[in-house]
Amino acid sequence: MSAAKTDPAYDALAGLDSAPLWRYFGDLFLREPRSAARPHRWEYAALRPLALHFADTLSLEEAERRVLMLINPGMQDPPATVNSLFAGLQIILPGETAQAHRHTANAFRFIIEGESAYTTVNGERVHMNPGDLLMTPGMHWHDHYHEGDRPMIWLDGLDFPLTNSFEAGFFELFGDRSQKSLVPDDLSSRQFIHGRLNPAWLPAAGPASPVGNYPWQETARAFAAIADDAEGSESEGIVLEYTNPWTGGPVLPTIDCKISRLRPRFHGRARRTTASTIVHVVHGEGYMEIGDERFDFAPKDVIAVPGWQPHRFVNTSAGEDAVLFACSNRPALQALGLLREDLPGSDA
Ligand SMILES: [Fe+2]
Repeated sequence: MSAAKTDPAYDALAGLDSAPLWRYFGDLFLREPRSAARPHRWEYAALRPLALHFADTLSLEEAERRVLMLINPGMQDPPATVNSLFAGLQIILPGETAQAHRHTANAFRFIIEGESAYTTVNGERVHMNPGDLLMTPGMHWHDHYHEGDRPMIWLDGLDFPLTNSFEAGFFELFGDRSQKSLVPDDLSSRQFIHGRLNPAWLPAAGPASPVGNYPWQETARAFAAIADDAEGSESEGIVLEYTNPWTGGPVLPTIDCKISRLRPRFHGRARRTTASTIVHVVHGEGYMEIGDERFDFAPKDVIAVPGWQPHRFVNTSAGEDAVLFACSNRPALQALGLLREDLPGSDA
């Protein structure tokens, strides 16, 4: 062994841009996944005053990217929130606009607070209200304008860590600062939102959902209609997936979005998945166990759940539901044959 360590042939290999696989094998072929991301919680109550501070102090030019990045302590360079996904808190002020642009990365917005802003996606103005989920799929032009009188804050979710890792990212500015409105406002939501009745005259196009906004109103209506007539999942409660109406599958080719209602005192069963997940607390209080750590959560917090970490949801309230929004990279893993999920401790 000692002779091998000093064998000058290793230096010769390095000089030829080659390396001995037998010295790397254990790190390259893991027995099971080991995410660089760490389980983590971002406290909304702590970040919100800073978002408001930068809303007051940034120049107009910088204000176009007024996003507090939620950087996982284990994924700082390049920055990501969990593997292949990025989340940030964006704040916009009344009267602000953003330069219209498009990029390969798929994106969504989940609206946290404020009203009377809209984003224009490929010529359709899509209005935003708290609890709404908006889509800006890859290569769709988007910009925004805020007509209200209070700051507006939303959670941005993007897959640019994935597109950048594939070295397949493009970004373009639109010619004009804002897009013109080309169709009636919120048309796609009104045409598709019923889910079971799709507009048959439209062609199915592209891998992403054609729906611009999944409004909170519809989500609340779905939860109310289900009421207590379903048991739901033992891990995720009454969990609903936002779907692409053409396929019934995920809203974006690389990201799925779900919302779950945890009844009072819900104590979820632990599960794990190779998918990496970002959870946003819409309302309610409780905690998540991720691996051997516990993260108490309050409304509007964001939690990173790295892949293959056993995790469970608990609603500690005796009288109130907890509602959690979650996105994950599950569709990307599924497309690549890399999705594996189980219930640790189960005999199944
Ligand atoms: Fe964008």
